[in-house]
Amino acid sequence: MAEYAFFDHHPPQTDILDEVLDGLRGEQKTLSPKFFYDEDGSRLFEAITRLPEYYLTRTELSIFDAHDADMRVRLDHRECIIEYGSGSNLKIRRLLEIAQPRAYVPVDISKEHLAENARELHEAYPQISVYPVCADFTQPIPLPPQVRGMEKTAFFPGSSIGNFEPPAAVEFLRNVAQTVGPGGQLLIGVDCAKSADVLEPAYDDAAGVTAEFNRNMLVHLNERLKADFDVDAYTHQAVYNVEAARIEMYLVARSEQRVRIGGEVIRIAAGERIHTEHSYKYAPDAFVALAEQAGFSCADVWQDERSWFAIYLLEA
Ligand SMILES: C[S@@+](CC[C@H](N)C(=O)[O-])C[C@H]1O[C@@H](n2cnc3c(N)ncnc32)[C@H](O)[C@@H]1O
Repeated sequence: MAEYAFFDHHPPQTDILDEVLDGLRGEQKTLSPKFFYDEDGSRLFEAITRLPEYYLTRTELSIFDAHDADMRVRLDHRECIIEYGSGSNLKIRRLLEIAQPRAYVPVDISKEHLAENARELHEAYPQISVYPVCADFTQPIPLPPQVRGMEKTAFFPGSSIGNFEPPAAVEFLRNVAQTVGPGGQLLIGVDCAKSADVLEPAYDDAAGVTAEFNRNMLVHLNERLKADFDVDAYTHQAVYNVEAARIEMYLVARSEQRVRIGGEVIRIAAGERIHTEHSYKYAPDAFVALAEQAGFSCADVWQDERSWFAIYLLEA
């Protein structure tokens, strides 16, 4: 009999405050991309995925369409699917139909959005047990006891792996390898390096939705930590660093700012940039080498016709 149970391991407020202050005290001020995601941030990200410039979601879905038969052979009847950063239900529906698991564990830091989507999925697939886990996936995740002993496939779409610095990406993949155990799988979507003419508009769209998403991080921190960022005092910037093969996203202060957070005042100079996201792009051989460092071997790679995006099936 399929069931539904929610597991809340969301990080406490004090940990979040310490992490934010640490990031703002450094020479290069930095805020982690995980702070994008309150309820509005999750909705803004969904709007980004529908923008004409944001090719990633469309391209990843087109790979599922083009290689459906092949994927069915590789992923048929896995017992448990664990999705990291589950967000909306768009991609998981494809995988659930291919893999037909007994259990699905969506993991996300955005609590309300997670609960809403997990419920909806449970109603759509009543034969699958759904165990949402609200947690920070940069830390090892305690899995629901119900899935202990099940054969596991992890799913990490959307090129979210690109938000980790490469050493942290290896550490994350190592944790996933441990979670799925020997013989377990990871199906992971990764964006490929390409021209700045395509990449920069994807992270700086004409309608300004990505700019709003970037600035919403400050709205979120104001609410959550009772900070007083003047949100309109920052402009959005996205640049492709060709040498490092990454998009770099910043919030740039238009004028000098003094921000009060947790009893501390942070000074931000006019023109100073707060770094909010890196999005690394990987050629297939570079990504496979990274995965191998974490204890995975590559069983399959599927790409679109332009080789803009790749979905890898890795085995632990
Ligand atoms: C870029 S979106 C991708 C969403 C979806 N998987 C897709 O492919 O379109 C990143 C998702 O990961 C979640 N997320 C970001 N950082 C996280 C973290 N450190 N721990 C858990 N979830 C996180 C966000 O809430 C969001 O749903």
